[in-house]
Amino acid sequence: MIDLIIRNANLPDGRKGIDIAIGKGRIVEVGPKLDVRANREIDATDRLATPPFVDSHFHMDSTLSYGQPRVNASGTLLEGIELWGELKPHLTVENIKARARELCHWAIARGTLAIRSHVDVSDDSLLAVNALLEIREAFKPYIDLQLVAFPQDGYFRHRGSAANLERALDMGVDVVGGIPHFERTMEQGAASVKALCELAAERGLLVDMHCDESDDPLSRHIETLSFHTQRLGLQNRVAGSHLTSMHSMDNYYVSKLMPLMAEARVHVVANPLINITLQGRHDTYPKRRGMTRVKELMQAGINVAFGHDALMDPWYSFGSYDMIEVAHMGLHVAQMTSVDQMRQVFAAVTTNGAKALGIENYGIEPGCNGDIVILQARDPQEALRLKPARLYVIRRGTIIAETSPVVSRLKLEDGTVEADFRWPKESN
Ligand code: FE2
Repeated sequence: MIDLIIRNANLPDGRKGIDIAIGKGRIVEVGPKLDVRANREIDATDRLATPPFVDSHFHMDSTLSYGQPRVNASGTLLEGIELWGELKPHLTVENIKARARELCHWAIARGTLAIRSHVDVSDDSLLAVNALLEIREAFKPYIDLQLVAFPQDGYFRHRGSAANLERALDMGVDVVGGIPHFERTMEQGAASVKALCELAAERGLLVDMHCDESDDPLSRHIETLSFHTQRLGLQNRVAGSHLTSMHSMDNYYVSKLMPLMAEARVHVVANPLINITLQGRHDTYPKRRGMTRVKELMQAGINVAFGHDALMDPWYSFGSYDMIEVAHMGLHVAQMTSVDQMRQVFAAVTTNGAKALGIENYGIEPGCNGDIVILQARDPQEALRLKPARLYVIRRGTIIAETSPVVSRLKLEDGTVEADFRWPKESN
């Protein structure tokens, strides 16, 4: 007798009618009509079972602070940074923890069980680091939370950032961050990339930098990041977040850049909700979309994952922490509308994120963690269209969140009709 069996599920790769058996927190068997008895059985007929959603880029210290002390009037990245600076003196460990705790509850409800959150280390008190280290520990049974030491006010530009960043790493922050496009000059930006990659190599840590989050086609720190990744043997351990300048770069230059990125095996993290909102603000018309070249990067064999980045904070006023909403926006902005491209977009919020974060034992195969989300949708395309309810969120074989199927009942003259937005109604 094992702990849990999921019966007759559809999988993201297109397999249908699959049973998934979970015992001692791990997936033990995957296949049609398994001859297994379990303490708990879930009927997943016509439901998509996916490994959990992964948010590859978030800011948990600023989330849910919308309106404090005021709202971002211009909607730009730079006013957001200014506003966050106004809020910082009023932060306490307790209020950061309360907001982060609420966000983690939303994450679990949405089936997002791995999050990489940047944490601002510009502030000498390192309040946010203390708060999020506690949250990481408290939610360990449910969420893999990685923290990135992020010098929001600049690694060289802000006095104290470099020392604070090292202190944060000493305290247990997992990943080295950076923000080269915010340093005072291109040279200082490049020098910050070099110094931070060397620090990561020395300490055996991963790297994830906010990189080229700008519409400036000459912001080329991703080239430097790829170079030092390769020079220091950090292949597969470095992510470039945003890379929005690539949207505006000269095509000839990009044709040289992308093979270098592929060679260095850097991961790319795009943030569709935020990129489409913050970029192009200096344009009149035509107005640039700003998101990096997701489709072309994927075609070049580069791992591209998506992040939510911000939620009800100085940079973004919306969101309910739904990674399918992120994927839906990414699909539209990148015009990835073929069936195969939609599967790739779904992977950007699941498997590609797991690769970028280096999460072990992720997936629906024997030996993987017993972490599964069952959706009120039949396949990734329907999931992207409906942003459906997460019927069951399972962590290490235990159901940690449940949502009832969403069905509208229409009271019409000729009787009651149900609408659940599936079409065609019958599965084949
Ligand atoms: Fe960010």
